[in-house]
Amino acid sequence: MSYDKGQATEEFIRWSESYDRCILQWLIFGPSHRALIRRIRKMVGDRPARVLDVGCGTGLFACRLRSEMPNVQVFGVDLVAEMLEKGRDRWHRHRGQVFPVQGDSERLPFASGVFDVVTCSNSFHHYPRQERAVQEMARVLRPGGRLMIVDGYRDRPWGWFIFDVCVAAVEGDIHHASARRFRELMQAAGLGSIAQYRHRGPAPFLLNEGVASPGSTVVPAPHFTSSVVREPAAVVR
Ligand SMILES: C[S@@+](CC[C@H](N)C(=O)[O-])C[C@H]1O[C@@H](n2cnc3c(N)ncnc32)[C@H](O)[C@@H]1O
Repeated sequence: MSYDKGQATEEFIRWSESYDRCILQWLIFGPSHRALIRRIRKMVGDRPARVLDVGCGTGLFACRLRSEMPNVQVFGVDLVAEMLEKGRDRWHRHRGQVFPVQGDSERLPFASGVFDVVTCSNSFHHYPRQERAVQEMARVLRPGGRLMIVDGYRDRPWGWFIFDVCVAAVEGDIHHASARRFRELMQAAGLGSIAQYRHRGPAPFLLNEGVASPGSTVVPAPHFTSSVVREPAAVVR
């Protein structure tokens, strides 16, 4: 049976307790966060920007980003309330600057065309409908905004062994998309200037980038009709 959101929820309720201390922080999460921050800094510089982090977990990346780039306002969205809740102290320290929201990557609870950057790190392989998730991430980008998705790089033998064999043995029927598949998904969502950056290491990862066409019109969301960014209806108060 293919992996579904019920399994993702169960997995992350279990994992939430130890998530911030697990060895993957050192192996892949930390390095991928640093790579994303370098890219965002390069794109945005010191300008004010609004960033959405999809699958934000306990807020490690969202809060790191805000600490390193004080002009950005960061929203984080995650399916699993327990993951958001585990980052409670962190969210509190960044209150008014970083906003955690519970929601699903396939139905983002935000208006269209409101973010300068959308990030997604180490979460994408959990999405049962990856095409739909990329469409949603593209929808909430402003024209000219940039999508950045990081996930395990499984196209070479070592990455295949780590992600398609070892990680799949632990997590079940998750799906790490190939580099080619990422390009197809971004193109299908109307993104252009697609670039991919491969990071070597014990757990290799791929950073995939695409730009919402500067001339694109903002597509309305049938499930979200407000004209503004959702006010931070955070689960963590
Ligand atoms: C491995 S963690 C990554 C967390 C964080 N992005 C990081 O790099 O540390 C994956 C996260 O994706 C979330 N997730 C899984 N499926 C999701 C979905 N459909 N929509 C939003 N978040 C989801 C999980 O709850 C979990 O917090």
